[in-house]
Amino acid sequence: MTVPELLRSKTEGKRLSMITCYDYAFARLLSQSPADAILVGDSAAMVMHGHPSTLHATVNMMRLHTAAVVRGAGGKFVIADMPFLSYRKGISAALNAAQALMTAGANAVKLEGVAGHEDVIQRLVESGIPVMGHLGLQPQSVQLYGGYRVQGNTDGQAAEILRQAHLLEELGAFAVVLECVPVHLASSVTAALKIPVIGIGSGAACDGQILVLQDLLGLNIDFQPRFVRHFGEVGACVLAAIESYDHAVKSRDFPTASESYK
Ligand code: KIV
Repeated sequence: MTVPELLRSKTEGKRLSMITCYDYAFARLLSQSPADAILVGDSAAMVMHGHPSTLHATVNMMRLHTAAVVRGAGGKFVIADMPFLSYRKGISAALNAAQALMTAGANAVKLEGVAGHEDVIQRLVESGIPVMGHLGLQPQSVQLYGGYRVQGNTDGQAAEILRQAHLLEELGAFAVVLECVPVHLASSVTAALKIPVIGIGSGAACDGQILVLQDLLGLNIDFQPRFVRHFGEVGACVLAAIESYDHAVKSRDFPTASESYK
């Protein structure tokens, strides 16, 4: 997958599946999957490091996760999230952050919102860095919302999200993630844009979907919002395997002679 191919998917009406990933082992598995692209999301701060929000992701954290994923991804298209405030401290700081992620091997960067950093988006694109936008629920603004809530419920908010989506396209973004907005708004944004709209918690009308890998695998046992489907119960599988190992060790069944060196 490349940026031109991602754009072509929209005109050809092909659905895109994207998945987050943060580490080498899962990236190797994803490299063998038909998924179209991998996002090294700043959700790494929560999923991999146990922080309460994505505000704890740093450029260095994202660089390390991106490099590990790229090493395992076997050439799949990898998008890396620009962390909290890394694109709000001026163009030079934003370019440095994007450089850290791109030289770690990312094919593109993603950043949240547009108001106040239009210049950064434009400069990144002019510098040859593909930019993915992120509208609707922007997890880096969770303190402003007072929690993780559906966005775009009022006519005014919906119009503003549509306006920002158009602006992202004009600034040169190659795709937009649209998180937790009502289905009718996701449908309008998808119809209005030429670039692919990738939904999460925004219904079926989007050009593609993205989910957090650990959520779709059933590994994130404390987190089951309405929009997450478990496509496997890997958490239960892991626990069963560990129980079985524990039992084999304690009953002296493991290791056998054939699992030992002569
Ligand atoms: O960080 C992340 O995982 C994301 C997805 C929810 C789209 O931004």
